[in-house]
Amino acid sequence: MKLLVYGAGVLGSLFAARMHEAGHDVSLLARGGRLTALRRHGVQFAEGGSPTVGRVPVPVVDRPDGGYDLITVFVRTHQVDAVLESLAGVQGDVLFLLNWAAGPDPLGAVIGHERVLLGFPATGGTMDGDVVRYRRPNFIVRRVAMPIGEPDGRTTPRLVRTVEAFRAAGFNARAEPQMDAWLRTHAAFEVPLGQAVHLAGGPVELAADPDAVRGMLHLVRQNLAALTTPPVPRAFAALRTLPQGLLVPVLRRFLKSPTAVHSGLSDFSPATAAELARLAEQLRATAGAR
Ligand SMILES: NC(=O)c1ccc[n+]([C@@H]2O[C@H](COP(=O)([O-])OP(=O)(O)OC[C@H]3O[C@@H](n4cnc5c(N)ncnc54)[C@H](OP(=O)(O)O)[C@@H]3O)[C@@H](O)[C@H]2O)c1
Repeated sequence: MKLLVYGAGVLGSLFAARMHEAGHDVSLLARGGRLTALRRHGVQFAEGGSPTVGRVPVPVVDRPDGGYDLITVFVRTHQVDAVLESLAGVQGDVLFLLNWAAGPDPLGAVIGHERVLLGFPATGGTMDGDVVRYRRPNFIVRRVAMPIGEPDGRTTPRLVRTVEAFRAAGFNARAEPQMDAWLRTHAAFEVPLGQAVHLAGGPVELAADPDAVRGMLHLVRQNLAALTTPPVPRAFAALRTLPQGLLVPVLRRFLKSPTAVHSGLSDFSPATAAELARLAEQLRATAGAR
């Protein structure tokens, strides 16, 4: 598969390295200092805080050139507009693997509706200088698949091909028939959670403030109620129906767990704040009442 990986941060770098190792013809698109570092050292990665740094010499480009079988986009929500413009004249289906609650239409309006696929990355990590520190997947994370879907929910040959290629490279990918609803449900939870964590100064600090956790849960419930479809996965409906007295202790325990502490919730970068703000805007713009 001729693959362009657009965005050379945490996930784009990891994904490009893995697909390159699996034998695909991969180019990783980067910019600025990241481009220079990747040209010099390739993708450098380490598990958690390990001092052992691996390297994969993935070919790097600074702009899309020619056509691709698939373009995968790994940028932040607020960075998508600029990417779309640069992809308008480049051939290839485009899979957006990122936080997105505005539906497929604004994407397709720029690059062509027939080219859009949606998904969400299931792995995670952080940048440490130019080294990607990926999180060792724990039992729960290993069970969470990387959902990928057609905007209209069909199981098309290109979707099957893409899922198979990712699985062969070691990603736990699966076809998701309600990908747009999945992404909106995720944002409905992630925005209040991320913003509450930022306000409190960290997941553990938020856990220490039951009133703030209750406030966060209230906003999650409002967001879920405003979705125009039932939540996907269905289990998220429990956040609306189970009593607050039951959910708040569970959320506080989660916030204190290593899974939360070593997740993107502890990332206070301006990019994360900007991404949460854009996702919140997208949720507001698409809110309905059920
Ligand atoms: N990291 C995680 O643990 C995790 C887990 C689950 C989901 N996600 C989601 O997955 C998506 C990607 O996350 P990430 O952690 O990989 O983000 P990231 O580390 O911030 O990487 C984004 C990369 O894309 C680059 N980029 C943005 N616009 C570009 C453009 N126009 N041209 C070239 N390069 C461009 C950025 O460059 P600059 O630095 O120069 O802007 C950065 O290197 C986000 O929606 C995130 O919320 C992340």
